[in-house]
Amino acid sequence: MRAVDVIDKKRRGEALAEEELRFLIEGYVAGRIPDYQMSAFLMAVVWRGMTREETLALTRLLADSGERLDLSGIPGVKVDKHSTGGVGDKATLVVLPLVASIGVPVIKMSGRGLGHTGGTIDKLESIPGFRTNLSVAELVAQVRQVGIALGGQTADLAPADKKLYALRDVTGTVESLPLIASSVMSKKLAGGADAIVLDVKVGDGAFMKSRSDARRLARLMVEIGEAAGRRTVAVLSNMDQPLGCAIGNALEVAEAIRVLSGEGPFDLAEIALALAEEMTVLAGVAATREEARRMLRQSVAEGRALETLRRWIAAQGGDPAVVDDPSRLPQAPVQMPYLPKKAGFVAKLPALAFGLAAMRLGAGRETKDAAIDPSVGIVLHAKVGDRVQTHRPMFTVHARTEEDALRCIREIEEVMEISDDPVEAPPLILARID
Ligand code: URA
Repeated sequence: MRAVDVIDKKRRGEALAEEELRFLIEGYVAGRIPDYQMSAFLMAVVWRGMTREETLALTRLLADSGERLDLSGIPGVKVDKHSTGGVGDKATLVVLPLVASIGVPVIKMSGRGLGHTGGTIDKLESIPGFRTNLSVAELVAQVRQVGIALGGQTADLAPADKKLYALRDVTGTVESLPLIASSVMSKKLAGGADAIVLDVKVGDGAFMKSRSDARRLARLMVEIGEAAGRRTVAVLSNMDQPLGCAIGNALEVAEAIRVLSGEGPFDLAEIALALAEEMTVLAGVAATREEARRMLRQSVAEGRALETLRRWIAAQGGDPAVVDDPSRLPQAPVQMPYLPKKAGFVAKLPALAFGLAAMRLGAGRETKDAAIDPSVGIVLHAKVGDRVQTHRPMFTVHARTEEDALRCIREIEEVMEISDDPVEAPPLILARID
């Protein structure tokens, strides 16, 4: 077999056999196939697409390129949760202790943030002492002990995807539904969970800008999961404005604590409950989503969800006292409130611009190896549809310097919109696909 013939075949729009895909993927990982041939192949896929069978085969090949975690030592149905990424998306920090508090075992591998989207690992590391570099054996032992564990993605989890994704990132070949779906799902399948709940974000601050693309991606990922024998459900949710009110690592941890205490912004609480109830049903801990919701709400009301968060933080070496005193989290030296220039109704808070503004404050990374500052970010005091007045802060910037805070305010002022007329709050959950 020659790589050029396989590339040619895809360029002509023909479907490839699993053996041809294997030849390319294994050859690429082993260094036999150079970047330029793989780039040409990826571009052909972007233009020509892939059949369902090709996409399933590619997912399997990526998942099998490294170790597949064996979670059979953990009793119960293990359910993973994955978000395609957004701004202010700290749902994992709420959902994991929430479901664990009612007996759903939780083990998860998460990533760091890049660009305008944050990463769960960065958020958790803002808790003093919190360790995320746990080995798989440590993660499994911790789940058996306290019911919940989260670690960074090991280098051996779908390494072919890691290499391919880095190449896609610099060759304009990220935006392809079969490539995205196989990339995400290969890591989920290798992660070993029995069932998977996907939060597919759609809108300004998300990968998928249109609802129809997001729906197609969600369907494809659900199909891949089910074909691999994993029960998979996807929720489509709005990412036109940041999720919740906080953007920035320690600020997001503090907000997650508030939601687990039964306070906190409605949208974050709502998406967390929606995802948590799917996980609870898939785990077989509740028979219906309604029953799951009742159990989850009760756990919050009785303080069990918050207690699970304390135990989780302590188990991973973090300071559990942050749960009762969030001022123990890193605090930015400058906190600058923004008073709107006119009163009215918030019409636009573009998520992407907020994500980029927070990144430039130091909350995120422009490049893969950049350092982040856990204390900085933005806290919204009003969301789309809310009324604002000129004497009340609309948001507060947490920054290292006054100059940084002023620049952030200028960036946001340019993109946000306040309307004289009432604005309806946008729907949060757009669809459910199973
Ligand atoms: N996230 C992934 O893991 N892979 C993609 O291709 C896109 C987003």
